Amino acid sequence: MAESRGQWSGKLGFILAATGSAIGLGNLWKFPYITHENNGGAFVLVYIGMVLLVGVPIMVAEILVGRRTQLSPVGAFSHLSQGKPGGKAWSSVGFLGVLAGFTILSYYSVVAGWTIHYTYLSFSGELSHLASDAHALQTYFGGEFLTNGQQQVMYHLMFMGLTTGAVYFGVQKGIERVAKILLPLLLLILLVLLVYSSTTSGFGEALRFLFVPDFSTLTTGSVLEALGHAFFTLSLGMGAMLTYGSYISKDVSIPRAAFQISLLDTLIALIACVIMFSIINSSDIEVSKSSTILFTTIPTVFAQLPASGFFNAIFYLLIGFAALTSTISLLEVVSSYAIDELSWSRPRASLTMGAVIASFGVLNALSLGGNATLSSINLVGRESTAGVFGTMDYLASNWFLPVGGFMIALFVGWVLGARDTLDELQKGHGDFSWFKLWRVLIKFVAPLAVGAIIVSVILGREYQ
Ligand code: TRP
Repeated sequence: MAESRGQWSGKLGFILAATGSAIGLGNLWKFPYITHENNGGAFVLVYIGMVLLVGVPIMVAEILVGRRTQLSPVGAFSHLSQGKPGGKAWSSVGFLGVLAGFTILSYYSVVAGWTIHYTYLSFSGELSHLASDAHALQTYFGGEFLTNGQQQVMYHLMFMGLTTGAVYFGVQKGIERVAKILLPLLLLILLVLLVYSSTTSGFGEALRFLFVPDFSTLTTGSVLEALGHAFFTLSLGMGAMLTYGSYISKDVSIPRAAFQISLLDTLIALIACVIMFSIINSSDIEVSKSSTILFTTIPTVFAQLPASGFFNAIFYLLIGFAALTSTISLLEVVSSYAIDELSWSRPRASLTMGAVIASFGVLNALSLGGNATLSSINLVGRESTAGVFGTMDYLASNWFLPVGGFMIALFVGWVLGARDTLDELQKGHGDFSWFKLWRVLIKFVAPLAVGAIIVSVILGREYQ
């Protein structure tokens, strides 16, 4: 089994792939819109605090478990829990991770597929005719596109095809190679857009909105939302970082890597906000709905600019690239389970799991209006949980990820011994002087904070 497992080519390969997993629709689509909804400044600050106090420590914990066991989540937990309180029952945390990977990928790839459609629309010049946000919402996004079942399914399947292809070729030749090409490209496109946005008249106002906190606008809900988002955007709570950590060698410093990945992820999310808010502020376009800024407001603003087709196209390519390196990590968790635990070959695992998730995802793709029955399902009755799509998102973001993250923190903080964890963290790092602080964060702060999310979900509050 061990020989057939992949390994990154080195430290850089791992950092790029893990950063690629972290940076995705969470950074470019969700973070800007929840920052908009939560009035910027103070929310951004709380979010950064959550990343540092909860995100980084849990990421360290996940990577540690992966590298220690060189196994994917199910095997890793069952291996490390031998002879410990709870015993084999801990492997259910691994199963929950596999289930979360399946669930998230089945709807994430639908949204990711939209970037293909929008890149095409940009090149064909169609987006240049948008007159207002409401117009975009009605014509391109809401009315014609979301309810077009055929298109939704087609783009979703295309995206699943790309994802499966990368996972098929394995850790180094597939996942790492795609990340090594796409991540630098993504950074380059972001820089071009950032420089461009700094020349717009809305730049100063965007910076003020994002970086001058006004705490009077902060609610408990926003604090929990910031924490929930920190989880999602850092790819935590379901063993994605654990799985990627199982392919690193002992000469990589886990704490340093976790910090670098989180820093890059946060920077990209902030840059995405600066770009979007600058260009929105510099136009007189009204945002009619925060959650669709990316697909309605942005192309409308671009439509007023010279060379709008070009900016639009590279913008949607960027989002597609970011999404692809994330969907790859989701499929890798599910596939590596079959490889490690069922002894399947990589081609068999990736093709089978890719096909099963793609098929299930068709239900998500059709539930945005394409099919009345699928659209009408709604577990908890909120607007955001409508349809199979909304239900999957609700289950994953509100239940699977927080519960998974909570259990991972408990396991590493309370079940694994201090000696084992310190030993693993010092490999490739040397003296780990922050160990005590990290232990406090992982034993107390992280479980309490994530526990608060779970309690608020049980009480029926919406934080996503
Ligand atoms: N982090 C990615 C984003 O921000 C999404 C993602 C990829 C993810 N893998 C994950 C989220 C694992 C949770 C768990 O878009």
